Amino acid sequence: MPSADPLEVPDDGPSPSEILRTGELVVVGRIPSASNVTLVCDAVLGDRELRCVYKPVRGEVPLWDFPDGTLAGREVASYLISQALGWDVIPETVLRDGPVGPGMLQRWISTPDNTERSHSSTTVSATDPFIGASELPATRVDLVDLCPPDAMPTGFRAVLEALDGLGEPVLLVHADDPRLQRIAVLDVILNNADRKGGHVLEALDGGVYGIDHGICLHTDDKLRTVLWGWAGEPVPAHLVSDLRALEQQLADGSTDLRTALAEHITADELDALSLRITILAASAAMPEPPPHRPIPWPPF
Ligand SMILES: Nc1ncnc2c1ncn2[C@@H]1O[C@H](COP(=O)(O)OP(=O)(O)O)[C@@H](O)[C@H]1O
Ligand SMILES: [Mg+2]
Repeated sequence: MPSADPLEVPDDGPSPSEILRTGELVVVGRIPSASNVTLVCDAVLGDRELRCVYKPVRGEVPLWDFPDGTLAGREVASYLISQALGWDVIPETVLRDGPVGPGMLQRWISTPDNTERSHSSTTVSATDPFIGASELPATRVDLVDLCPPDAMPTGFRAVLEALDGLGEPVLLVHADDPRLQRIAVLDVILNNADRKGGHVLEALDGGVYGIDHGICLHTDDKLRTVLWGWAGEPVPAHLVSDLRALEQQLADGSTDLRTALAEHITADELDALSLRITILAASAAMPEPPPHRPIPWPPF
């Protein structure tokens, strides 16, 4: 699939945001593994185009435990929260009309996996005992990965020990990486019920982005994540100060952010969001999970 790189848009053309919001959508393909209808599109405006992901509301599988609003709306609300924190960890996401009706449109993130001539994102030395232990190419360890329990790569944190399909013990691990840690903190306040390994993208631009935030922001505690490696540990001070700023922004009942979020989540969910931010900022520590460490299944 050719990538429509926003960095190639010259200054005098429409911005990537404009293209995302107003471009005509040309469907390029459908992602077959997705649980809802997820289409890859090019948004075309004049002679510019921008690759994006389009999830029409009509293609959403109804979920009994998320009866309010839409998954698309929750994705947009999550993006607005990431932006309000100044973290920029969710690709720009908007709610708009498309060829299959209203839905969410999100900028595409180019990664080694979805770009031709892919290269390793994180490499380990050729003598690392982990090499060859997974089905991945021999020199590659993803930010979230599996390894034998006695062969955790350096710079990684353990999440959970389990048995693989053949009954062999495996360890779920993730990188001890500040870009990933920020996503883990965001997940706590989003109350993300679906942070799988495949929902973390290490981009060609060097950033790490979170995707698929359709089942976030519930009032009940639903945090299910593969990023438990920092459980109980301090949240870095600069992230806590960002949380405090967001807490202030939401405390004022008339801010644009509150108004924008209220279009996508209920008043109770907005209150629960504020409470989670207050608790996390006050404790400045990542929550301890229940003993079974809830993770989404499958974890990738
Ligand atoms: N913004 C994006 N950039 C690049 N790839 C994406 C993006 N959004 C989704 N994908 C790809 O599409 C797959 C399915 O998308 P996802 O958001 O998980 O859909 P679903 O809600 O159906 O689970 C992802 O695992 C990822 O490979
Ligand atoms: Mg998904």
